[in-house]
Amino acid sequence: MSASTPRPAHGAGSSWDTPEAVERIIGAYATADVVAIRQAQIDLLGPIAGAAILDIGSGPGIYARDLALRGARVTALDSAPAMRAAALVEARTAGVAIDVADGEANALPFPDGAFDAATLVQVIEYVPDAVGALREIARVLRPGGALLVCDTDWATASWGIGDAALAERIKQAWCATKPHYDAGRRIPEWLIAAGYHVAAWEPLVLANADAVGDTFHGHTWKTYRRLLERLGTVPTDELDRFDRLCAETTAAGSFTFTVTRHGWLARTPGGTS
Ligand SMILES: C[S@@+](CC[C@H](N)C(=O)[O-])C[C@H]1O[C@@H](n2cnc3c(N)ncnc32)[C@H](O)[C@@H]1O
Repeated sequence: MSASTPRPAHGAGSSWDTPEAVERIIGAYATADVVAIRQAQIDLLGPIAGAAILDIGSGPGIYARDLALRGARVTALDSAPAMRAAALVEARTAGVAIDVADGEANALPFPDGAFDAATLVQVIEYVPDAVGALREIARVLRPGGALLVCDTDWATASWGIGDAALAERIKQAWCATKPHYDAGRRIPEWLIAAGYHVAAWEPLVLANADAVGDTFHGHTWKTYRRLLERLGTVPTDELDRFDRLCAETTAAGSFTFTVTRHGWLARTPGGTS
């Protein structure tokens, strides 16, 4: 791909289709803060042993792996080849078998009613036609099938770094990189528009007291800084100051980062749960 060719938003050749993106997600999702949120979100599905579950936008297969470890028959779908390859490795390393599929959230390559349940985690914030994707997922679920949708409300991101105005500018620029920065709070609205019955809500705060170490923030900020640099939406001297304040407040023990992650369980009409 030449320097002038814009990257696709997802799929082959996108920023998701790189070893760096795979490594970043695996790193961030192995941190204690994110592990606790993942297990609480999966709990919303209840017992899943033997259920056929489609994990859409599976990334490197962390949710797919954990669903399979709970006994589900999992198909991990992602549009990025690097993510699908990583999902197979993740499952094999954990000693579970999963199927992997190429596909797009708005056009799933499966017949009607093929799955008992589906998961869509940290994906809908990137999907311009969110309601269309939820309708397409409903199509491949059996009547009464379950859908777990989880995403972040990036407008709730806040940094305790001793400079609230700078933290606010970083948040605004971060939100502007997303098709739906407010996906977390909009999930129930989109689910209802797509014809689901909303069944349960699990809002959780992702909280880090360390900006630079083995935390969600430590793994994720580096990537966002590069993105903001490329977009030119925050001057370099402000990004440098933000980095410096993050490091200084972490060393002083006063750094905080919080953001709300929403998990919603919904069901397609009809059938039995
Ligand atoms: C932030 S990652 C989330 C990975 C995983 N669900 C998790 O939470 O661990 C987003 C993933 O969604 C995939 N993706 C983005 N848009 C997609 C779409 N329209 N259809 C299928 N996959 C998509 C990307 O390739 C990427 O792997």
